[in-house]
Amino acid sequence: MNVTKETAICVSLAAQPGESGRRFHNEGYEALGLNFVYIPLKVTGNLEAMLDVVKDNFKGCSISMPHKRAAFDYLNAHNHHIDRYAVRTESVNTIYNDGTSLMGHNTDTNGAREALKTVELKDDDKVILIGAGGVARAIAYSLKDKADLYIVNRTNETAMNLAKKLKVKWLPYVALQHEEGKLLINATSVGMKDPNECPIPLNSIDKYDVVMDVVISSSPTLLMQEARRLNKKAIPGKVMHVYQAAEQFKIYTGKKLPDNFVWKKLEEARA
Ligand SMILES: NC(=O)c1ccc[n+]([C@@H]2O[C@H](COP(=O)([O-])OP(=O)(O)OC[C@H]3O[C@@H](n4cnc5c(N)ncnc54)[C@H](OP(=O)(O)O)[C@@H]3O)[C@@H](O)[C@H]2O)c1
Repeated sequence: MNVTKETAICVSLAAQPGESGRRFHNEGYEALGLNFVYIPLKVTGNLEAMLDVVKDNFKGCSISMPHKRAAFDYLNAHNHHIDRYAVRTESVNTIYNDGTSLMGHNTDTNGAREALKTVELKDDDKVILIGAGGVARAIAYSLKDKADLYIVNRTNETAMNLAKKLKVKWLPYVALQHEEGKLLINATSVGMKDPNECPIPLNSIDKYDVVMDVVISSSPTLLMQEARRLNKKAIPGKVMHVYQAAEQFKIYTGKKLPDNFVWKKLEEARA
């Protein structure tokens, strides 16, 4: 592509940048013939200084682990706009720069809702959500009025606090060894560095009908491998990623991606 001074630059800021965002957004710009480029940046230090750079230079910015809460605090402290999903989850994963001010969004909430739209949930269906960090908060908000939601986290206190805030239930981490339910969701980072790590004992996976992972990895995580082996409905992290990235794309460019582009990405994500 030909990068000129007119090219709109979008970046992602993460401690461990992945490849999926770069591929998704750049292929989308190409499909629509947009003069945009998307560049993942590794940020381990001060996010605030980096967001000052974003404000002066870039059209859009995706925020990944572990910076989503700090991005929310930055936008709040500088009186920028923040959408209701970001306010509810106190976490920002998408920033749009209109040239004068920044707008913070959280596309994980709708991404999770879309990824789960093929799962029929009733009020009394038990859902075990493992994790209480940024993405877990987004998922919890999208599920809290749809099912009997339990939050479980390595640090029990964080699970308890989040459950209290959302008025849902929580369970101690050890409960994962004997719990059962309709839907199990891994919303921790376990499996991110090593896809062969699993947040739950393997012999407990059979106790759920549907298993969803948020972790985006080049090869299927052990959780997804095991769920598929047991003939469960398995929803990999890449599926949620496609939905949340499609919403980000629209925020950055003002354009909706063609349905066939998104379907192709979903097919790849489910493979
Ligand atoms: N698919 C998607 O579209 C999508 C979107 C956003 C994020 N993600 C992925 O979701 C994952 C979590 O992101 P996040 O932003 O929520 O991160 P975060 O806010 O840092 O939260 C991390 C969570 O993982 C738990 N955790 C970390 N290491 C653990 C371990 N060894 N054993 C058990 N629990 C552990 C933490 O528990 P403690 O509270 O005990 O530390 C916490 O609940 C990352 O892999 C990220 O890439 C995917």
